[in-house]
Amino acid sequence: MAQLLDGKAVSAAVREEIALEVAECKRRGVTPGLAVILVGDDPASRVYVNNKRKACLALGMLSEEYALAADTTQEELMRLVASLNEREDIHGILCQLPLPRHLDEQAVIHAIRPDKDVDAFHPFNVGSLCIGDPGFLPCTPAGVMELLRRGGIDPAGKRAVVIGRSNIVGKPMALLLLAANATVTVCHSRTRELAAICREADILVAAVGRPKFVTADMVKPGAVVIDVGMDRDENGKLCGDVDFAAVEPVASAITPVPGGVGPMTITMLMKNTLTAAKATLKD
Ligand code: GUN
Repeated sequence: MAQLLDGKAVSAAVREEIALEVAECKRRGVTPGLAVILVGDDPASRVYVNNKRKACLALGMLSEEYALAADTTQEELMRLVASLNEREDIHGILCQLPLPRHLDEQAVIHAIRPDKDVDAFHPFNVGSLCIGDPGFLPCTPAGVMELLRRGGIDPAGKRAVVIGRSNIVGKPMALLLLAANATVTVCHSRTRELAAICREADILVAAVGRPKFVTADMVKPGAVVIDVGMDRDENGKLCGDVDFAAVEPVASAITPVPGGVGPMTITMLMKNTLTAAKATLKD
């Protein structure tokens, strides 16, 4: 039986620690505030945004949501970001991705002030992570690292393979594993011999966005398997990028979907918002 890396339980523990710090922050006159921008009506994005709001409120943080119409213009969006950049009561700004096709995501990411960029998507924060001097950590990869840490798994000296090279997960995940002294390989849609490379992994992170992509034959016995996927199987049931039933008996530790990486992402967002608010405290 593999060790189950329980994101719900770890999240609850981390959120308790955050709640104490939020209370202390409020006692000193600052309520951590997060503004979330959602453009259009993508149902998955709506669910994520709702969960972010609930997490904020449960921790006693201020949550502001801007649900904008799908035909919002770039100028309108940029104006909103500019006004949130100026607000003293808003410490974190997040624009839920993906944006509708007519909008320029990179322009929005560049417009968010780096010290309010709780997603860590701004090139300043990406660059800081890259040179080993991180400010905010990207939420999903940071959540994975926290799960590993609290599961007693040290990546140092291990072979880590990340499947996926997105800016949100794959690339920053590789950087964090590297910073933790793993030997890291990033695989993607053009990788040859993908299964053979995966089989070399002591830590295998799947962030492909394809249901049950990782099968048992791709996993080295005893490997740690982290599933970042949020997919639907052939029956419309929520599943991950890993065929859990087949892989679990081979792995030494594994994350479930749901209840693995997902809750950790939001917890790390709360942590970044708290960090942003604490930076404004006067001593
Ligand atoms: N879309 C999917 N994941 C994320 C995330 O972590 N942050 C934002 N802003 N959008 C996303």
